[in-house]
Amino acid sequence: MRLGVLILAAGEGTRMQSRQPKVLHRLAGKQLLRHVIETARSITPDEISIVYGHGGEQVLQELDAPDLDWVEQQERLGTGHAVMQAIPFLHRVDQVLILYGDVPLISGSTLVSLLAALHTTKLALLTVDLPDPTGYGRIVRDRDDHVVRIVEQKDASERELEISEINTGIMAVNRERLESWLGQLENNNVQKEYYLTDIIAMAVSDGINIQVVHPICEEEVMGVNDRKQLAYLERYYQSQRANELMQSGVTLSDPARIDIRGSLKTGKDVFLDFNTLFKGEVVLADGVKIGPNVILKNCTVGENTEILANSVIEGASIGADCRIGPFARIRPETQLEDAVHVGNFVELKKSQVATRSKINHLSYVGDTTVGSEVNIGAGTITCNYDGANKFQTVIGDRAFIGSDTQLVAPVTVGEGATIGAGSTITRDTPAETLTLSRSKQVSVEGWQRPVKQPKDSK
Ligand code: UD1
Ligand code: CA
Repeated sequence: MRLGVLILAAGEGTRMQSRQPKVLHRLAGKQLLRHVIETARSITPDEISIVYGHGGEQVLQELDAPDLDWVEQQERLGTGHAVMQAIPFLHRVDQVLILYGDVPLISGSTLVSLLAALHTTKLALLTVDLPDPTGYGRIVRDRDDHVVRIVEQKDASERELEISEINTGIMAVNRERLESWLGQLENNNVQKEYYLTDIIAMAVSDGINIQVVHPICEEEVMGVNDRKQLAYLERYYQSQRANELMQSGVTLSDPARIDIRGSLKTGKDVFLDFNTLFKGEVVLADGVKIGPNVILKNCTVGENTEILANSVIEGASIGADCRIGPFARIRPETQLEDAVHVGNFVELKKSQVATRSKINHLSYVGDTTVGSEVNIGAGTITCNYDGANKFQTVIGDRAFIGSDTQLVAPVTVGEGATIGAGSTITRDTPAETLTLSRSKQVSVEGWQRPVKQPKDSK
């Protein structure tokens, strides 16, 4: 059996009040449509087609990939019409699974159940019971509880409006049958649209027993029409991630105040304080502690390392037993070995720092290799940029850099060297030696401070 997934994404998204297409809005940092595409891929279909709407070129630009077929629906004439546009792209498949670009949290396991239900029939439908079914198509069943048709809200009678079982829109259909039913669709309804939902009654009159499957939770089938719904699903998604973390042995100071926009892998006994944000791929080893208001993007953090409040770290690998922050900024291509200390208002960029070295206060270290057991004093700056090119600084093991030093790269500080505070170092400094560049201190005897002139003195 060959499976095709068809994602409908031609909606205008008027209620988003946005300059960009609705399906490009982001949930957990990822476009709505990308969520659906990735879930579709997870069930390994043979084809994925996406119906996009007028002006949707931006969607292609952001999301195109070799495994996707894009079909433009030039006029928005209804869900049935949208599916018809894609039929030519699905001629090689036996089954079609229909998804929606604005229903981002549908799960792979629900889709697998729906496809399993299709094995015994030609049409399987995903439905759910809602306390307030307003707006949705209602599932009409006969006395024997068999599904007989779907009626849209706008076409429904008083009695039909009382039905609480609704059509999620997601369904799996035999491709051949789908094609023939679509050919019979008419738009003689209140909205003058070609309703995909009309194929249910056609299937029933062909003697087909419609199979029904329910999602694991309601949020899976909730669509995004406005920013309020987007925010609701974002919070739902984040609460699920928080639950998973707690189940896997992470303590969260407040499960409502953590955001994961990407993947977060954690060891045992990790502690995450409030307002922590994780982007891209982040790995935290056993015993890592993250303080409040910390942002981590694409980095790994070794065992028992502590990252204190308000630190921002991106593209770094950090060893075990380190202490970072508060207010540290670590930029891409930085590697810290074990037991390194990076303190407040320290910026590191493209630098390697070996074991037990300390950069504790107010420093900029960029394009630098720092040996082990180095102490970099407050206010040290590596002058790595001459306005055109970047240059390297190398600091040997056990070096001691006095406070307020400028290291003008390219420059090497020898092993065990000491640099006197306030120095501007422009040439390599010898190992195990004190180097300093400092003007002689003078005291001027008899010098007097200026006195303020009285205002009307003339
Ligand atoms: C549709 C279903 C309804 C179901 C509801 C679930 C039909 C006729 N009705 O109603 O039974 O309860 O979804 O949310 O199918 N789309 C296109 N091209 C079109 C029209 C729609 O791509 O011409 C896409 C939209 O982008 C959207 C989806 O199809 O993702 C649903 O369209 P929408 O107009 O929201 O359908 P509803 O009227 O809400
Ligand atoms: Ca509609």
